[in-house]
Amino acid sequence: MRINKFFCTAIAAAVASAIALTGCGGDGGSSGGKQLVRMSHSQIESHPDHIGLEAFKKYVESKLPDKYDITIYPNATLGANEKVLELIKQGSVQYLVVSTANIESFDKLYSLFSIPYLFTSESAFEKFITDPKTMEALSVNSKTNGFVPVASFTAGVRNFYSKTPIRSVADLSGKKFRVQAGPTNVAMMQAFGAAATPMSFGEVYSALQQSVIDGAENNELALTDQKHGEVTKYYTYDMHQMCPDLLVASNAFIDKLSPEDRKVFDEAAKEAEKAEFAAWHKAVDDAKAKATQMGVEFITVDVNEFRNKVLPLHQQLLDATPELKPLYEAAEAANQAG
Ligand code: GCU
Repeated sequence: MRINKFFCTAIAAAVASAIALTGCGGDGGSSGGKQLVRMSHSQIESHPDHIGLEAFKKYVESKLPDKYDITIYPNATLGANEKVLELIKQGSVQYLVVSTANIESFDKLYSLFSIPYLFTSESAFEKFITDPKTMEALSVNSKTNGFVPVASFTAGVRNFYSKTPIRSVADLSGKKFRVQAGPTNVAMMQAFGAAATPMSFGEVYSALQQSVIDGAENNELALTDQKHGEVTKYYTYDMHQMCPDLLVASNAFIDKLSPEDRKVFDEAAKEAEKAEFAAWHKAVDDAKAKATQMGVEFITVDVNEFRNKVLPLHQQLLDATPELKPLYEAAEAANQAG
């Protein structure tokens, strides 16, 4: 059972406008002498992203109990991530967990992670996203962006799932797949011979149900947490993307913190990262077991067939955005290190 989409949108709009009124200039307002801090994400409360933010809240509130009151808004209650990123820039929301794909339209550096088959193993991906040098390289435009990444959360491997089985690249032909925002995803789907339909995460269930799209692509948790496994019964391990979810902080908020408080918030971000990673792999195993009970079939394919189809995109994307090159080379070095 899904809550009516219009109802959710109305709530999100109401909450977002209340926030726009109360939180200007970087802080979330105050209550009982404490500064309010709002953290937003689009997952359910058992998701590793939420568990990460709970660790963050616990850490800050234990170190600075009289100063900050942190509220976590799950389920995109403040709006879709693309919209909340605007609130982050304005400073009315202080933290957001957002996929790099949604940051791409603000800063092209983040399109790195949309490059299909950038990583050759999940361990190389995990090592790369938790390397402080990666975060530093992604932060170079943070002053103009209005936000800065402070922690990386794994979001596993993105694979196709659809109403009809995808057993080879040919099965994608002519099909419409929901992708996350961004031109790289559109180019990727074209290279696969399919059509891309970018839309917000929260819209995917009804688009699948109404057959506006034939399928989507995500990690296994989307099948269960978002109930996509109710309406798509074939999940194919083609392994085309690994995009992290980043915890981004509003510059309008963190730039005003005292050095002592800033240290606590930065340490809290590391606690969040640790807690999210610790929860991830079990969450995937649980999602697979639950999706199997829902009747989803997990299909393994010749990954090289899929990879070879889109590999020419790497050079094209690097030619179009040469500033990606140093990060791309660092990702390749992470692949070599395994
Ligand atoms: C994953 C990811 C989210 C993202 C979503 C999507 O669930 O963790 O950050 O928004 O995919 O496909 O939109």
